[in-house]
Amino acid sequence: MAIPDRFLLAAVMGSPVLHSRSPLLHNYWFAENGLAGAYVPLAIAPGQLGPALRSLHALKFSGCNLTIPHKQDALAIVDEVDDAARRIGAISCVAVRPDGSLAGFNNDCYGFMENVLEAQPDFRADAGPIVVAGAGGGARAVVWALAQRGAREIRLVNRTLARAEIIAREFGAPVQAYEWSQRHAALEGARMLVNTTSQGMVGMAPLDLALDRLPRSALVADIIYTPLETPLLRAARLRGNATLNGLGMLLHQGRPAWKAWFGLEPKVTPQLRATLEASLRGD
Ligand SMILES: NC(=O)c1ccc[n+]([C@@H]2O[C@H](COP(=O)([O-])OP(=O)(O)OC[C@H]3O[C@@H](n4cnc5c(N)ncnc54)[C@H](OP(=O)(O)O)[C@@H]3O)[C@@H](O)[C@H]2O)c1
Repeated sequence: MAIPDRFLLAAVMGSPVLHSRSPLLHNYWFAENGLAGAYVPLAIAPGQLGPALRSLHALKFSGCNLTIPHKQDALAIVDEVDDAARRIGAISCVAVRPDGSLAGFNNDCYGFMENVLEAQPDFRADAGPIVVAGAGGGARAVVWALAQRGAREIRLVNRTLARAEIIAREFGAPVQAYEWSQRHAALEGARMLVNTTSQGMVGMAPLDLALDRLPRSALVADIIYTPLETPLLRAARLRGNATLNGLGMLLHQGRPAWKAWFGLEPKVTPQLRATLEASLRGD
């Protein structure tokens, strides 16, 4: 990796933000590659995103990631938005151009797909029906990624049907919205199940989903990584399904961010993953 002769700066903006594992990820890459730089968590209140983003250039930041509650609001602030971010309706990464203008991207979709492909290199999105639970920001990135990858049938189940219907309408043919009461039946014949709801996160109730009708050959993915094994993943593992947590999605979305900020391409290695896992376990 070419070593730039300057102090590299990037950040994550959110509220709350101190729980974020992104600083650990990006500072690991600085250290691993012998680079002088820092990635800092910035607690930015709702309504302050505009001034915060506009200050990045003067402060010599190359860019930032965005987390709750800023991903949607950024769309109206940045100067250019890539196609995926516009269609998903959320910006996860901002790059500061040399002239100070701001470019917005969504790397969550890339991170999700790379995580799946790392676990199952021969994964094919068109190999059978895929059930996605949830219709929030995470779901929009996941559904977009799967549709781009050629998925032919995405069964979208969400507690609030109207949100799933909006995604089905916007993303078109492969996506069908299902009533929440149909979530158990929707698993029939599926080759993959993805949880994108907040259910199963630390402090939240488990996702209320009976896996009986899910084929044992199906991959069960959760985009949550706190805990590393959600109750859904544990139940799936115990009945023989392959499982995948959300940590790899976080790790992989960082790679295109580095490309946009620094022109560099760090690697997702077993050591990096182990470092993040140890932090998440509280070791
Ligand atoms: N691994 C990663 O890199 C990554 C990236 C993004 C997000 N995530 C994780 O993904 C999760 C969702 O994030 P998000 O940004 O998509 O959140 P969000 O936009 O707030 O969406 C939350 C989703 O959870 C559903 N939900 C909430 N409470 C529920 C309940 N009691 N029963 C059933 N469904 C319920 C919501 O349904 P309604 O529409 O009915 O409210 C909605 O579909 C979070 O845990 C987040 O940390 C991980």
